[in-house]
Amino acid sequence: MEKTNLLYEGKAKKVYETNDPALLIVDYKDDATAFNGLKKGTIAGKGEINNRVTNHLMKLLEKNGVPTHFVEELSPRETAVKRVSIVPLEVIVRNIAAGSLAKRLGLAEGTKMKKTVLEFCYKDDELGDPMVNEYHILAMEYCTEEELKLISQYALKVNEVLSAYLKDLGIELIDFKLEFGRLADGTIVLADEISPDTCRFWDSATGEKLDKDRFRRDLGHVEDAYHEILRRLMGE
Ligand code: TMP
Ligand code: ASP
Repeated sequence: MEKTNLLYEGKAKKVYETNDPALLIVDYKDDATAFNGLKKGTIAGKGEINNRVTNHLMKLLEKNGVPTHFVEELSPRETAVKRVSIVPLEVIVRNIAAGSLAKRLGLAEGTKMKKTVLEFCYKDDELGDPMVNEYHILAMEYCTEEELKLISQYALKVNEVLSAYLKDLGIELIDFKLEFGRLADGTIVLADEISPDTCRFWDSATGEKLDKDRFRRDLGHVEDAYHEILRRLMGE
């Protein structure tokens, strides 16, 4: 499989077309942004770590009945994935209040939610990814009602599988963001990444943040946190 042309360059990844029209190659970058691109930097080694962590978790999810776009890891920072058209939603799952939810509802970070919270944001950088509800999604036809049901079911399943898996590694899954895509035949699959860029991971014993909040909030030891996640997941 060979990269042909660059299809898209995002803030953290480049996506290439290949000689197979059904496959794309994702190339993870060390670039980091926050606050809709306002804060910029690099996190040394992030590309490789996010590639490996994402693939490890995608494989775990496939085994547990969540279809994903994952095909094959090609190199430390490159992965072959199935070509999808992305559903223009960020699907956010929250177990514990943090970040924008803590701010919006005036909760102390770390407050356990009595029930898992599911949120949707419309993916549009110019609009700053505004939060939308089921009515907006259907009225705007971002996806169909059937797709929305399936996406919600998959998101909750991802939460169950990952929360349990990470708990055993001493990691509390606070919240995370998912994206889904449609294969050529319309099948919904989990796409994008699952990494310290897109999840909040807190050490179960100490509460230490092991994710991109260390970069967003200038907490220091950013690279150490990414390496610690890789070490706990892959034993290295
Ligand atoms: P939030 O508290 O800022 O809304 O973030 C919720 C979760 O979503 C958190 O785990 C970080 C992740 N996230 C992304 O992956 N991309 C984004 O652009 C944002 C805003 C959050
Ligand atoms: N990656 C997003 C951005 O650059 C937001 C974030 O992860 O905080 O805006």
